[in-house]
Amino acid sequence: MARIIDEVSRTFSEYLLIPRLTSREHQPKNVSLKTPVSRFRRGEKPKFSINIPFVTSSMQSVSGSEMAIALARIGGLAFTFCSQTIEQQVAMVAKVKMHKAGFVQSDSNLRPDNTLADALALRKKSGHSTMPVTEDGSGNGTFVGILTDKDFWEFEDNLSGLVRDYMTPLASVVYGTSGITLHDANMLLRKHKKECLPILDNKCNLQSLVFKKDYFDHMNNPYELLDAQKRLAVGAGVNTHDYEARVPALIKAGADVLCFDSSDGYTEFQKDAILWCRKKYGDSVIVGGGNVVDGDAFRYLAEEGQADFVKVGIGGGSICITREQKGIGRGQASALMAVVAERDKYYNETGIYIPVCSDGGLSNDTQIIIALAMGADFVMMGRYFAMTYESPTPKVSIGGRMYKPYWGEGSNRARNWQRYNQGAESTENQLKFEEGVDAYVPIVGSVKDVTSVTLTKLRSTMCNMGSLNLKEFTDNAVLTRISEQSFVEGGTSTVTTLDKERPRDV
Ligand code: IMP
Repeated sequence: MARIIDEVSRTFSEYLLIPRLTSREHQPKNVSLKTPVSRFRRGEKPKFSINIPFVTSSMQSVSGSEMAIALARIGGLAFTFCSQTIEQQVAMVAKVKMHKAGFVQSDSNLRPDNTLADALALRKKSGHSTMPVTEDGSGNGTFVGILTDKDFWEFEDNLSGLVRDYMTPLASVVYGTSGITLHDANMLLRKHKKECLPILDNKCNLQSLVFKKDYFDHMNNPYELLDAQKRLAVGAGVNTHDYEARVPALIKAGADVLCFDSSDGYTEFQKDAILWCRKKYGDSVIVGGGNVVDGDAFRYLAEEGQADFVKVGIGGGSICITREQKGIGRGQASALMAVVAERDKYYNETGIYIPVCSDGGLSNDTQIIIALAMGADFVMMGRYFAMTYESPTPKVSIGGRMYKPYWGEGSNRARNWQRYNQGAESTENQLKFEEGVDAYVPIVGSVKDVTSVTLTKLRSTMCNMGSLNLKEFTDNAVLTRISEQSFVEGGTSTVTTLDKERPRDV
């Protein structure tokens, strides 16, 4: 006979936190949100941590390069999606890695005999206003000068004029030489009041560029998530079908963390795929698995699969219809608590800590806070990030408000990429039903603005709970279940609120 779990499936909105003693040191400015992403042994430090507990869903409508750059800047991690060709995903990862390295490989270069029209076209295409001029027009060619948007006026100068007549020639350029430290390069920029410093080798070949704006970006973003080479960190979703080709390509491109992306990760396919990564790369690869909703599945991926972290959640996603289509899933709070309990048990037994990620269904800041209080090491969100300027979809005006399209990875729209890349018959035969919908979400602001509101609330709640880090937050958390009536009591009551649009005189 089927086993019925006595406890009903619960969601985050059914819980509230009861404050603990707040001491004088419990102030938001003292709170650390750093959290592990990779497994580690008791007493050791995790190999990979993030500085805020937020990652993006590996979805077409959420995680492109722009999102990855914006999130890494403030300390989180984006998972570029795998529902695209390996080449496309590699290019996405490479773009994040190229974005800021202190020493940037120049990708917008001119020859001295190019015209100003060529320069203008390159500027528009690349978005870069500083363009090195090399003899052969390559990024490592012999450097002869530099052209910026200040050197010519698009509407005044004759655009058939040659770059060599407008550029600042080598003799007048301040440059650094190979081997210079980033600090010394920045100080040269400061001393000479320059925006960009070319770095040349002893044969005058261009090596890289150092920008003043990168220095300021870095100083303004103290939580930036960087790899060992000071490049922004980026994650990548992978799948159990083409991992033998996709994983090596992504690792070569510099992906810092991989995550197998599946609505149900309690499978031998996923265990085999993670173990394949372990065998090939040992502990140097950070690879997560999921999704799961109970302790058995967590232990399977942790123990047999050797996953670095495990993702929790089936059917709770805002665009997800898995529960109604297939009848599998679990209330997200119940799923998370079951997995966290097993994680802690596993840690006590083995001394190995496996971080847990709560994935999907977080529809407001309170739910994010409750998920972290319940023991999630970090949360993965789709809708939350789809609503920002940096998500990769175009703005759409509907009824006078601005929206962005947001669709599930299990929708026909997302699955369609295979139609063009793996031959028509593969999708035609496999696609039986959808597990996700195609929707719109309102635009709410930039990643930085939106997360800063949520993080301010999180830090404040952590202080209410007498905690200065996420581990203390979970350890101190006391949660109470709420009745429908106390839910009503929690909203505004016995007062009259004005509509946002006040009544107009008619
Ligand atoms: P959200 O943050 O509530 O929007 O949920 C995002 C999460 O939903 C993702 O991280 C995935 O785990 C999950 N998801 C993405 N696409 C689909 C789908 O098409 N069907 C079911 N779940 C999905």
